[in-house]
Amino acid sequence: MKKILKTIALSTLSLYITTMLQADEFTQKDLDLWMAEYKSVVKEGRKVFTNPKLGTNTVTCNECHPNASNTHPETYPKFQKQLGKVATMAEMINWCIANPLEGKKMALDDPRMTALIAYITQERKGIKLDPGKH
Ligand code: HEC
Repeated sequence: MKKILKTIALSTLSLYITTMLQADEFTQKDLDLWMAEYKSVVKEGRKVFTNPKLGTNTVTCNECHPNASNTHPETYPKFQKQLGKVATMAEMINWCIANPLEGKKMALDDPRMTALIAYITQERKGIKLDPGKH
């Protein structure tokens, strides 16, 4: 009896796993759609990056980081002196919003934060990950 139950449990489990794997399959149409979504967020990120209304003093990210230069997304997470701890790039972006832009820090899941990260990371695409590096 125990053995039968075990067999049933195992076959249920393998059916479940198979279903999960199937749920992960996607079509070229899905891929195209997701890439288009991603690109629209990158585009939005460029807008946020160059928006003089993001902070309170009309300064934009792009003035100090033209085309996302000197942002080094590939080095995160890393120790940041300004924050006194190992931080993500989003936390460092908030530091720049609060200090050079004299603005209000964003929630880390704010869509504008996601857009900024997408834009910056896209601009540095292809650079080898090197977390922790200075
Ligand atoms: C007045 C100039 C200035 C402006 C404007 C500015 N930053 Fe910065 N940013 C800095 C400085 C200075 C640092 C610190 C560099 C360091 O110590 O790593 C920095 C660091 C960063 C880093 C981390 C770079 C690294 O090498 O680790 C990111 C990412 C970043 N800024 C993004 C932004 C974003 C996004 C904005 C707009 C919201 C912005 N910055 C606006 C000057 C600026």
